[in-house]
Amino acid sequence: VTGFVSIIGAGPGDPDLLTLKAARLLRDADLVLYDALVSPEMRRLAPRARWFFVGKRAGRPGIGQEAIHRLLVRAARRGQRVVRLKGGDPFVFGRGGEEAVALAAAGVPFEVVPGVSAAIAAPALAGIPVTHRGLSSAFVVVSGHAEDAYRPILESLEPHTVTVVVLMGIASRATLASLLLARGWASPTPAAILRAASSPEATAWIGTLDGLGAATLPEALADSPGTIVVGKVVSLATTIVAARTIPESRLAAGRGR
Ligand SMILES: C[S@@+](CC[C@H](N)C(=O)[O-])C[C@H]1O[C@@H](n2cnc3c(N)ncnc32)[C@H](O)[C@@H]1O
Repeated sequence: VTGFVSIIGAGPGDPDLLTLKAARLLRDADLVLYDALVSPEMRRLAPRARWFFVGKRAGRPGIGQEAIHRLLVRAARRGQRVVRLKGGDPFVFGRGGEEAVALAAAGVPFEVVPGVSAAIAAPALAGIPVTHRGLSSAFVVVSGHAEDAYRPILESLEPHTVTVVVLMGIASRATLASLLLARGWASPTPAAILRAASSPEATAWIGTLDGLGAATLPEALADSPGTIVVGKVVSLATTIVAARTIPESRLAAGRGR
């Protein structure tokens, strides 16, 4: 018997933001291979599975992409129902595509279950629509991890024409901000840094592009993921968050976020 691999997006952290399909597949899984950004609360959704951590922690290298491919293939060939659980959407900066290609090459049956990407969810939860009529009709998502990769993309953008969303960009926020300013973006362009979105520790820094580089972030959140947003849409955050209402019943159950 050959098992099956489901490459699943876990969303930004809050288990309530998993898809119904993800929850159903977790319930039936034999093995879950998960990454650093997958919330521990999700374990209760896969009570019969073995959970195995294959991510990176605090910058230390993980077990390696090739090793993950081998684990997936081997477990499926042993007939297991394997869930490969990744933060956000598995195909947005998550190397899910590489895993799908490896499974295809090995002839292992698999499926891809999209997830709610932090690129959209982190801004949304802070009251920032990535597009908004009259303010922005497109958004660009880049990784702030490698300057060689993001520089040509950001330089190709006409200033103020799109919303810029940066994942993995907290450490390089000063470089990112000076690049955009040098490209012609105005200093007062609204900017935001959204940390630990959808978790109880979520915080939002809202400011302007010229303050982004020097923005101080809470020590306690040093290891939590953060998403940067630059563009006029950030100015909607105050209005939308202030007016957003969360039903009393959900606040009482601690699920207001
Ligand atoms: C390796 S990328 C993976 C992105 C993921 N596949 C997705 O679609 O959300 C990880 C980055 O996503 C962003 N991120 C993930 N979860 C987040 C959260 N809860 N709040 C803010 N940003 C988050 C951060 O920029 C983090 O460095």
